[in-house]
Amino acid sequence: MPTKMAAAPAKAASQTAVKHDVTDLGLAKAGRQKIEWAEKQMPVLRAIRERFLKEKPLKGVRVAACLHVTTETANLMRTIVAGGAEVTICASNPLSTQDETAAALVAEYGIATFARRGENKDVYYKHIHQALDLKPHLTLDDGADLLTALHNDRKELLKGVWGGMEETTTGIQRLRAMAADGALKYPVLAVNDAQTKYLFDNRYGTGQSTVDGIIRATNFLFAGRIIVVAGYGWCGRGFASRARGLGARVVVTEINPIKALEAAMDGFEVMTMKKAAAIGDVFCTLTGDINVLAKEHFAVMKDGAILANSGHFNVEIDLATLEKTAVEVKRQVRPNVDEFRMKDGKAIFVLAEGRLVNLAAAEGHPAAVMDMSFATQALGTEYMTKQQGKLAAKVHDVPLEVEDFVSNLKLSSMGIEIDVLTPEQKKYISSWQEGT
Ligand code: ADE
Repeated sequence: MPTKMAAAPAKAASQTAVKHDVTDLGLAKAGRQKIEWAEKQMPVLRAIRERFLKEKPLKGVRVAACLHVTTETANLMRTIVAGGAEVTICASNPLSTQDETAAALVAEYGIATFARRGENKDVYYKHIHQALDLKPHLTLDDGADLLTALHNDRKELLKGVWGGMEETTTGIQRLRAMAADGALKYPVLAVNDAQTKYLFDNRYGTGQSTVDGIIRATNFLFAGRIIVVAGYGWCGRGFASRARGLGARVVVTEINPIKALEAAMDGFEVMTMKKAAAIGDVFCTLTGDINVLAKEHFAVMKDGAILANSGHFNVEIDLATLEKTAVEVKRQVRPNVDEFRMKDGKAIFVLAEGRLVNLAAAEGHPAAVMDMSFATQALGTEYMTKQQGKLAAKVHDVPLEVEDFVSNLKLSSMGIEIDVLTPEQKKYISSWQEGT
């Protein structure tokens, strides 16, 4: 893996008493402008912030967040602070931090922030521990690294925690595994599994932002090219449909027969990765599993093949093997593009070090879709505060009233009205006696 991640000392650190470790506080003004720009596309979150400001439902609550430090996340943090909470935030990925956003969180909004774009693994975990120093009542995760560090290394904090929230599919998988092992010690709300989250954020958010990341990194023309999509979950579906929209020939690989059938009937070519590897121009993994692109695939790829990952962790492309088998590795032939020259002379390009290409090479999902996910997060913090001590230590669904609130407000912000059931229709669909 590239090693260009050493962290330079933060400039102007003495400008603020708020605890922080960010790259450059001088970026704060620019960061604020971008955060305010994103806020314009987040009407549901804004409405919640206005209510939180008046009602202070989170008064005295300490919240530690480990999320991608983006403009959209900054608006979530502002909302939770408006509710009366004390907040710390660290990054949920070493390459997704927007340094100007991190600076603005500290210097413009007074929120303790520990995140530098390009931080190495040690700094990444140091930042998680700095966020945990708040002794949180609630934890917010995107991938479950904060919760896992708390359970493994900061057990003394567990008794003070009421609950957590998890933003992404990979994090939910980890939490369910912990719960099955009896290792999960507090209740966690599965924000990812809310319909108002995965149907929109995972599908349309990942779809657009993954295309955006690949294009920003490479300026690649999708039309007429073969794009291989590994995984046909909600994220894979979104990316496949957007790639097709740009005129690509889209190939899907799957391990699940039902999802494979769905992809086939959605009109995509479905084949094994072994076959796809030989024909693809661009490969993107969105599976949540390891070594989806591996040695046998690198061996048959075309000269110039581009590899990207949009799954949570940087494990989906076997980079260690690619590095070992390459005869030459050129870092940064363009920003976010590394070239691996193979024995037979062909080049394979890897985007964003195999990390989330949509966040590392672009700005993540657009604000308008994060509006729904983060509205659910914000209402989740209020719900978990009200439920303090009442929920079992397992993974919980987001309450239906939260989903209804978010979807109704999003619709009205889009100027869309929908029909309501007549009393006769209501009676009909809740009865069983009437047939043909
Ligand atoms: N995950 C995907 N896109 C994101 C964004 N824009 N902000 C925070 N988390 C994200």
